[in-house]
Amino acid sequence: MATIQIDAERCRKCGKCVQVCPTLFEQDAKGTLPYLLDTTRCNECGHCVAICPGEAIAHSSFPPGSITSVQPERLPDTVQLMELLRSRRSIREFRPKPVERTLVEQIIEAARFAPSAHNVQSTEYIVVQDPAVLKQVVELTIAQYRQWRNLLSNPLVRAITRLAKGATRQAALDGLSEDFTALINRYQQGDDPILREASTLLIFHADHHAGFAETNANLALQNASLVCETLNLGAFYTGYMVAGSNDNARLAKLLKLPRDHEIYAGLAIGYPRFHYQNWIERKPPQIQWFAQGGKHHDQC
Ligand SMILES: Cc1cc2nc3c(=O)[nH]c(=O)nc-3n(C[C@H](O)[C@H](O)[C@H](O)COP(=O)(O)O)c2cc1C
Repeated sequence: MATIQIDAERCRKCGKCVQVCPTLFEQDAKGTLPYLLDTTRCNECGHCVAICPGEAIAHSSFPPGSITSVQPERLPDTVQLMELLRSRRSIREFRPKPVERTLVEQIIEAARFAPSAHNVQSTEYIVVQDPAVLKQVVELTIAQYRQWRNLLSNPLVRAITRLAKGATRQAALDGLSEDFTALINRYQQGDDPILREASTLLIFHADHHAGFAETNANLALQNASLVCETLNLGAFYTGYMVAGSNDNARLAKLLKLPRDHEIYAGLAIGYPRFHYQNWIERKPPQIQWFAQGGKHHDQC
């Protein structure tokens, strides 16, 4: 449990800690010394320490050295950030050059600063760079798709599905089976449809008991993918690997996935063979707008 103390000498009584965390801090009146409520409810997000202008809050989870002043001049402006967001693309063609460990560490550093529900910071990482292990990941993923394809094409399973779920569900499953077959065929022809021969696979996993574990992992992945761009690395979301990791005991064993953990996201990373020169328009956003004042309900 975290211990939190307010240094009365240093406190400027501005009440910002109360505003950012009314669960833990209270103030009887504006300009008075805040006091602490039930500190067992602290989720160690650090907002109180980050907001305090007088460095008056001593929090056991954030000892000296774990607090750094924000340097506004280092932040990208909107134009720079939008250029990054618009120009990021999935990269699937890689040079055989390995990604340096320091760069992978920087990518994970970006990932771990993503928000997480109740600040659980549930996401953990597996880095695969050993070519033999990368090959096995692809093989075991394809093996899983082969198993599912065989199950879906089993006449008995098909008959039961049609009876229990109807022809529409059967048609959807047939479509899925065709997708699996296409992946398997590409693999058999010597292609790598799962990791596209990327030199690094970054896996985001978590204990499935953690609240919003999947969302937390995917937010971490998005941070990671953006920082890849700034490091001149290319990356793509390995959805086929993630889907194929479901109930895949052999893959879990290979990756030494902890008990109760699931793979929620994966990023294939490498040095890109080329950079995209243009960014392309997306679909216009569909927005339902309940504007201030409530007079107009625009749909655009
Ligand atoms: C959940 C998810 C799963 C994806 N799975 C794959 C995948 O398995 N293989 C792949 O090449 N791209 C995969 N992608 C990348 C998408 O195809 C890509 O983001 C989309 O076509 C838009 O292109 P862009 O990322 O270049 O903007 C995935 C993306 C997401 C968000």
